[in-house]
Amino acid sequence: MQVAHTVSQEGSRPATTPEQGVLPTPKLSGVKHSMQANILFQNDEHMVLTFTDLVTGEGIQSNQIVVIQEGHSAIFDPGGDLTYMPLSMAITKYVKIKDIDYVIASHQDPDIISSLDKWLMYSNAKIVVSKLWERFVPHLVPGYMKEKAEGRMVAIPDQGMYIPMGHSVIKAIPAHFLHSVGNFHFYDPVSKILFSGDVGASMVDEHPERPVRNFDRHIPKMQGFHERYMVSNKVCRLWAKMIRNMDIEMIVPQHGRPIQGKEMINKFLDWFETLECGIDKLTQHHYRVPQYNRNQINEKKDEPLSLLSPM
Ligand SMILES: [Fe+2]
Ligand SMILES: [Fe+2]
Repeated sequence: MQVAHTVSQEGSRPATTPEQGVLPTPKLSGVKHSMQANILFQNDEHMVLTFTDLVTGEGIQSNQIVVIQEGHSAIFDPGGDLTYMPLSMAITKYVKIKDIDYVIASHQDPDIISSLDKWLMYSNAKIVVSKLWERFVPHLVPGYMKEKAEGRMVAIPDQGMYIPMGHSVIKAIPAHFLHSVGNFHFYDPVSKILFSGDVGASMVDEHPERPVRNFDRHIPKMQGFHERYMVSNKVCRLWAKMIRNMDIEMIVPQHGRPIQGKEMINKFLDWFETLECGIDKLTQHHYRVPQYNRNQINEKKDEPLSLLSPM
């Protein structure tokens, strides 16, 4: 496998400690964009690319992935309006937009597939998404474009499926509740790369294209996000057990750094399968009607109420 990017140690920002009883809110980070593709794998017939710096401003850093096999192509988790224009410009070096075979979504989030209308308009690609979201994601498309979506939605059944690409396939691997109720990861058996959606996501300030080198220092960059966005330890364990039986060389999440090599992947799985997250951490404390200080409201009776924080 040819890995095109150089590697470096990630920074050493400490973890933010969540206030007691308050669910952690992950930090967002924006990066400058150069529209540079990172070539993760390349041979005569097959190529895997990622783009890591197309989101600017307030949007969370996101990775978009492209697989090309014998002239067939698939784009994974292309993102929303923020990424459509730079992404469509960046990939034309490798594939024409109108020739893309598949736009594949791991789940339904805005940073995953809210550019659906653009892909329907400017490509002939099939849109591949969990059967749970098949009839919801067309809501992202204006009514006048309804016909553009007809016959182009491919629903992935809960158990997953093979998506044909020339003489190879992309395997849709179940990842339900990690974090969406209908959620898939995608395995490319040629490069042995797993695209893991939000699983393994990290919030890094720079160089999201560089693989993780020091796992222990990387944990704080993943912890808050996974504790809040993943549903429960039970699904983490079920997923990790399935993944351990696969031949994977690299895990590429939708945010932050890839996890490369069996040793690092094992460290990640060891961490993930013991993670307490989502509903594991909830108590009655998180389900209370917000209480406000009456005096605070009365003092401001001549003014329209501004946003007040509960006591
Ligand atoms: Fe998500
Ligand atoms: Fe995401």
